[in-house]
Amino acid sequence: MLIGADRERIARDLHDLVIQRLFAAGMTLRGVLGLIDDDRALERVSCTIDELDTTIRDIRTAIFTLKRPQQDGSGLRAQILDLATHAHEGLGFEPHVHFSGSVDTATPDHIASHLIAVVRETLSNVTRHAHATRVDVDLTIGDTIDLVVEDNGIGLGDTTRSSGLANLRERAESLDGAFTITSPPGGGTRLAWQVPHHTSSHGRCGVAGDDEIAGPVHPEPALPTDRRADQLLT
Ligand SMILES: Nc1ncnc2c1ncn2[C@@H]1O[C@H](COP(=O)(O)OP(=O)(O)O)[C@@H](O)[C@H]1O
Ligand SMILES: [Mg+2]
Repeated sequence: MLIGADRERIARDLHDLVIQRLFAAGMTLRGVLGLIDDDRALERVSCTIDELDTTIRDIRTAIFTLKRPQQDGSGLRAQILDLATHAHEGLGFEPHVHFSGSVDTATPDHIASHLIAVVRETLSNVTRHAHATRVDVDLTIGDTIDLVVEDNGIGLGDTTRSSGLANLRERAESLDGAFTITSPPGGGTRLAWQVPHHTSSHGRCGVAGDDEIAGPVHPEPALPTDRRADQLLT
């Protein structure tokens, strides 16, 4: 198990050394695009530039995971704010976070664990897929518990290979709640995750998610290996 200082060092090295080098390599290739006459060579170099960009985004997501706060018993509000602060690295800007209601006192612990996992996966998706310049995270603890995350990015992409989103849906449904993700007419992507305060007996699901890479949040038995492996990719 990596301790905090190791995580910080690895994250810093990835950012300062690896990302910077990949970025420089991408810039060099971009610089020679205009010098290439052969169409096939041009396409190959363009593809390589795209792959470098994707790799940089993936490493940023890995840095986000490395630097994320551990489950240390601090309140839900603080943990969500920490997630937002750490998301800055990958997004290039800090998410706007807004709370309504008694977030720390009125949210049952097991629902708080789900909310943290949902916010983490959602911010990871915005980082990797949205190309956004703004994201709003809105958590309301009222008659129901409502989390809405909206970004102003390119809109919902292809969801055929949905594993993170399927996981968010399963989490909501296991708590008798609902999950939707849409591209509103004004652009971007809007995710709404809503659950009631009280759930029926099957309430605490054994759904695994990104949060469980370093340690389980839920006491339920582990999922089959193939499923967990799939979710580590989200
Ligand atoms: N905020 C978002 N903006 C644009 N597309 C998104 C967003 N969130 C999810 N998607 C789309 O939904 C797909 C499925 O997401 P997910 O199930 O988390 O899988 P993964 O992140 O591994 O691709 C993504 O590949 C992407 O195309
Ligand atoms: Mg995902």
